Amino acid sequence: MKHLITLENWSSAELAALLDLADRVKAAPADYRDAMRRKTLLMIFEKPSLRTRVSFETGATQMGGHAIFYDLAHSPLSSGKENVADLVRVVSRYVDIIMGRLFDQAHIEEMARLASVPVINALTNYEHPCQILADLQTIREKKGALKGLALAYLGDGNNNVTHSLLFGCAKFGMDIRVGCPKGEEYEPLDTVLASARKIAKKTGASVLVTADAAEAARGADIVYTDSWMSYHIPQHKQDSRVKVFTPFQVNAKLMKLAKKDAIFMNCLPAVRGYEQTADVIDGPQSVVFDQAENRLHIQKAIMLHLLDACRNS
Ligand code: CP
Ligand code: NVA
Repeated sequence: MKHLITLENWSSAELAALLDLADRVKAAPADYRDAMRRKTLLMIFEKPSLRTRVSFETGATQMGGHAIFYDLAHSPLSSGKENVADLVRVVSRYVDIIMGRLFDQAHIEEMARLASVPVINALTNYEHPCQILADLQTIREKKGALKGLALAYLGDGNNNVTHSLLFGCAKFGMDIRVGCPKGEEYEPLDTVLASARKIAKKTGASVLVTADAAEAARGADIVYTDSWMSYHIPQHKQDSRVKVFTPFQVNAKLMKLAKKDAIFMNCLPAVRGYEQTADVIDGPQSVVFDQAENRLHIQKAIMLHLLDACRNS
């Protein structure tokens, strides 16, 4: 059974094929209008969402399928009356494909292990693979190719989006520089860095972590940032995090260090005045809404690919 739990264990060729399929789905959506006919997608949510919820549900509808929104807050799981293993073995008997937005990566891994249908990671504290595939589709559209590009990520390095970017860039031969504060709380996990560096070595890419925002941004083709207050970060940390991340804010001065034709990206939700200034996110270099749109196309491609793999297994 094929799942999308992490970008780490998908080959560069498989990921490239997924991007190609997403381009075809985007160009000719009508060709796929029956591709999920009578198929049901279960969407399990433990955290909030705008893009993921709406784009997955719309994607299933556009392909003739049906999506169920299941809020874990209203599940026997949240009150301790049921466990993840039982939940996934039950729903596997009903639906054709499952996606989960959860806190714990171990829970989505457990779901994939026990499910008899494909499982998609729609964000955990550790990774956000659907987002980064949409980002790579967007970058390829804007820049023509991926290999050899340099992506600067500024802000929270110990972050799902950062981890998936590290894997995704390395797989496609893109240099990635993470500009973040020093310390375990803010830097990418060592295990992710070690794995990304190993992949990058094979694809001819490089991985840099620096506490110097200018070093990360200089000459970059893409400048990327993400929330300083991810869904799982407790509210009481806001003041201290704003202070520690402010030197990594993406503003006009920082954008000037990147290439003249650099694009600005943020997976959203975004707070103007925090991780980026309003003039950057609302300015001509920003592609954040193209990025958000591509969530729809790439997730349709992901569902098609996994359902197809499931049929042939
Ligand atoms: N980028 C993203 O995953 O957005 P949501 O949290 O709104 O789904
Ligand atoms: N890092 C962010 C991504 C939101 C899509 C979070 O986890 O909240």
